[in-house]
Amino acid sequence: MRVSLLASVLLCSIAPSAFAGSPLAVDEKVRNALQLDQNAEKGKKLYAGHCAQCHGPQALGSAGKVIPSLAGQRRAYLVKQLADFSEEERSSREMHAVVSQPALSSEQAWADLSGYLNSLPRASFPQTGDGRGLELGEAIFQDQCASCHGEDGRGDDDGFIPSLRDQHYSYLVRQMRSIASWHRLNVEADLVRYLDSLDTEEATAVADYLSRMRGPVKDRDRMNSDGTVNN
Ligand code: HEC
Ligand code: HEC
Repeated sequence: MRVSLLASVLLCSIAPSAFAGSPLAVDEKVRNALQLDQNAEKGKKLYAGHCAQCHGPQALGSAGKVIPSLAGQRRAYLVKQLADFSEEERSSREMHAVVSQPALSSEQAWADLSGYLNSLPRASFPQTGDGRGLELGEAIFQDQCASCHGEDGRGDDDGFIPSLRDQHYSYLVRQMRSIASWHRLNVEADLVRYLDSLDTEEATAVADYLSRMRGPVKDRDRMNSDGTVNN
């Protein structure tokens, strides 16, 4: 069992991908899904029938229930997360139940859903923190995180890097902790180490800073759901 292996100290030094088979399955499914034509209309129907009850009618999530906003999130990242949930590379009882349904377990369904979600307007006012650690949050983010996530938190489809903007504070804090404690298995060991090195004050400061990022994004607003960028 992965869970018992996880408890082992060995894992502190060996990345999960060193012994598990399923990250390869995820890679293949993600690659296939990203090559498919996406039908955002079908994605919209699937979303309304299977996702809106938790993630909300406009996919803006729920801060109180710690459910992420999905609107405008990067397409490649969304596909990878659905594949990770499906292969149990990322733990979440709710999401495992979702992606194990036949209508939601195919690469085509993930392509359609992620195309639809990527095209939605982002949350304008996500939940924020108490505002006390913003300078600290900015310093840590720009120093340790911006090289991958972008200085405006926009993420990157290359590298499956999520946008961290327009996301609820409560969810960001929880995911930093989750990744740091290997609840998300299919991630680079370096990322786990980065996040594990932050204490509570630092993690909440970064999340608060991110949840308050406003204004235009370098290229995400111009990005079509098929990943091409408008000039
Ligand atoms: C029963 C409630 C529920 C339903 C229904 C649900 N979700 Fe989720 N979803 C969650 C929760 C809770 C999380 C956060 C999991 C965690 O904490 O890791 C989540 C996380 C996600 C994430 C990860 C986002 C990120 O930023 O990493 C994606 C993608 C996602 N859901 C897509 C969907 C899609 C697409 C559907 C419909 C096909 C759906 N969800 C249906 C509750 C739900
Ligand atoms: C080496 C590149 C890299 C660096 C540096 C990095 N990240 Fe990430 N981050 C990623 C990738 C890739 C993912 C997606 C992991 C996955 O696929 O599950 C991610 C995921 C996340 C998530 C989860 C988002 C969600 O929607 O669930 C958070 C939060 C996050 N990073 C915060 C940070 C913070 C804070 C820092 C700096 C302390 C940081 N990251 C540094 C690459 C990086």
